[in-house]
Amino acid sequence: MKPVIGNIMHVGLPEAWVKFTAHKEKYGDLVYFRGLGKSVLVVNSLKAMTHLLEKRANNYSGRARLVFGHDLMGLDRTFVLRDYGDTWRAERKLAHMALSPSAVKTYDSILEEIAVRLAADVLEAPENFYAMLRLTTTRALLAVTYGVRPEHADGDIPLLAEELNRIGQKAVLPGSYLCDTLPFLKYAPSWMQFQKEAKYGWDVVTNILNVQFDHVKREMEAGTAPPSLVQQLLTDPPENMPNLEDRIKGAAGGMYGAGADTTLSAVLAFVLAMDRMPSINDIPNLPYVEAVINETMRWHPSVPLGVPHCSFEDDEYEGYFIPKGTVVIPNVWSIAFEPNDKYNPQEFIPERFLDHAQPALDPSVWAFGFGRRICSGRFLARNSIFIFATTLLWAFDLAPPSTGCLDVRFNEYLITFVSRIWIFCI
Ligand code: HEM
Repeated sequence: MKPVIGNIMHVGLPEAWVKFTAHKEKYGDLVYFRGLGKSVLVVNSLKAMTHLLEKRANNYSGRARLVFGHDLMGLDRTFVLRDYGDTWRAERKLAHMALSPSAVKTYDSILEEIAVRLAADVLEAPENFYAMLRLTTTRALLAVTYGVRPEHADGDIPLLAEELNRIGQKAVLPGSYLCDTLPFLKYAPSWMQFQKEAKYGWDVVTNILNVQFDHVKREMEAGTAPPSLVQQLLTDPPENMPNLEDRIKGAAGGMYGAGADTTLSAVLAFVLAMDRMPSINDIPNLPYVEAVINETMRWHPSVPLGVPHCSFEDDEYEGYFIPKGTVVIPNVWSIAFEPNDKYNPQEFIPERFLDHAQPALDPSVWAFGFGRRICSGRFLARNSIFIFATTLLWAFDLAPPSTGCLDVRFNEYLITFVSRIWIFCI
């Protein structure tokens, strides 16, 4: 392992994971950057990610405090980006109550109902496929978290989650905003572009936290609130939890913000991958479907740079010094696209997961993050992807446009595709 010291400002946001992966080939598993008033360590191997973020979780479970994301936009008002401590612990406990493997089973029927709606909506207006899929993943999160009936989850609500994801991803990547390097800029006048962006971001987070929560409370007063995580926690709150309402808001808002767009990205990648499927006839075979879903998660990781962790104390790893306060970025893209002699990592080949002689690594090991901060919604995510993807396959024949191949592009927020996906009914 040969770490390199560089300046993160030279990396830039677009497809940073591809650039970091190229660094791995050149310099090794650890790439260390300085220059933002911070130390940033990009980790390019599963071994190092597991060692630092899991085995040494007591030192690497913080979140970096960024001037733009935290001070100006208030992203740490949800527990995804909250720093490690009692408040985070309380909100994580609340989320776990709703998202444990046994708890998520209770959402199967609502997920199935939402999937059938998706099929019906797409049948009616296939040209709206993307919007329908986005609405579907938001419907799932809103139903689970706030008990919103699928037919009522429309309007601006789905856009909020997508907006949060878009601005949040940019805000957490070190180097996106100059005020993170020069903190005094946070007092810059409000007409400056980054201040306008921050104000917009602040309002998006505020809406995510309050709008649906207040709605559940009004429904509870009227005696009409359907079962949901928020309704449950307000009715039967855990004992001795200070500032309970704020904690419920933070847990619920975190789930909603973190869950909708990531699931959307995975299902969208699944649909695009169908263009590359070796044999669609294998789909009724369940292990094959699992392999297809695994391959989708590998072929396009929804969160290619994970969510950065931050260290509390000075540390040493394999002879290298990692100073206190280092932002650690797990570049999981480099694991997904690890060179492989038998199966080209760029190709969509589900069989790599069924090869008993040389099975590919289950993406759940790296796609949902690490250690104490591992994704709280991973069980719900797998179920949702499975139900939405198999329903689409059951109802439709997914095919590339008649004009030729899709030009699929992955951007820093979601997948973009320059050609439309066509779906033919069978
Ligand atoms: C394909 C879908 C998903 C992927 C790939 C994904 C991935 C991730 C990743 C990489 C992290 C960061 C973990 C770390 O810091 O090491 C995370 C955190 C989180 N995810 Fe997910 N996620 C998905 C779906 C969901 C869903 C459906 C929910 C909620 C229902 C959810 C809720 C959360 C929360 C609350 C956190 C913050 C945990 C913490 O900081 O303690 N995620 N997710």
